[in-house]
Amino acid sequence: MPRPKILVTRRWPSAVEAVLSERFDVTFNTGDQPMSAEAIADALRSHNGVLPTVSDKLPASVFEGETRARILGNFGVGYNHIDIAAAKAKGIVVTNTPGVLTDCTADIAMLLLLTIARRGGEGERQVRGGEWKGWCPTHMIGTKVTGKTVGIIGFGRIGKAFAQRCHFGFGMDVVFYNRSVVDPAEAARYGARQLPTVEDVLAMSDFVSLHCPGGAENRHLMNAARLAAMKPGAYLINTARGDVVDETALIAALQGGVIRGAGLDVYEAEPHVPESLRGMENVVLLPHLGSATEETRNAMGMKVVDNITAFFEGREPPDRVA
Ligand code: DGY
Repeated sequence: MPRPKILVTRRWPSAVEAVLSERFDVTFNTGDQPMSAEAIADALRSHNGVLPTVSDKLPASVFEGETRARILGNFGVGYNHIDIAAAKAKGIVVTNTPGVLTDCTADIAMLLLLTIARRGGEGERQVRGGEWKGWCPTHMIGTKVTGKTVGIIGFGRIGKAFAQRCHFGFGMDVVFYNRSVVDPAEAARYGARQLPTVEDVLAMSDFVSLHCPGGAENRHLMNAARLAAMKPGAYLINTARGDVVDETALIAALQGGVIRGAGLDVYEAEPHVPESLRGMENVVLLPHLGSATEETRNAMGMKVVDNITAFFEGREPPDRVA
């Protein structure tokens, strides 16, 4: 029986690519450039499966016409870059990679929180620029983290892992908003307490960290009104998805001193990062590094392998989202 023909849209860790090559008839994107929508639409017509990442766009238009592909094995937990309804309408199964990137993404949120609070980015730039004049009592004064309140929006796996770090690692009070009610005993395991609304969380928090999915339901959840509802002097951390924050409103809030600073790993139009953000000292900007560790990227790849192997063997893929 011929091996299923699959297309991988970007280069993956070499150990995972080797396993894919053993099991499938694989087309690799050897140049590792993001594929156009047309090229992805072609791949859906010519392959039994396509393995995209967050750097690809799969709007409804790529699913038009005949599609040979029966599965999208997404390399990543978030899948707001795929029009799920359109994929479903074509009978295409979609899988993701939950669990294996939880700790590393929570670590990046913690890194952003600490870096923005203690002005780590600014300090590094000063030292590298040869501009540091030496220690003095008033130099580059930041914000103490211990004892502060962090507000988490979205109490899924990553939100919980972040809460645990904040409370048990850094002595912070943790409150959170989550769409569904979380058992208080479960919340307490992470040192956290649920509040009824996003606004309740914003009103109390010195740091607000976003851990909800992207896509239509949370688009611009942090808009001008919600940024204004944050405590004066508070900081925003975003490791979720760029579209959860209205970037124009965020820039205005930072410029107007409505909030004190922001730590961002994700952006509305990645890899574009607005010039005005790049020019601000009170923001820390990372290039979507949440899951970027050797261990996690290998594990994400192996999860995709497990999902598509199960699918092509006629079993239910373990991480099916549609
Ligand atoms: C994810 O898994 O969603 C990360 O953002 C990388 O895709």
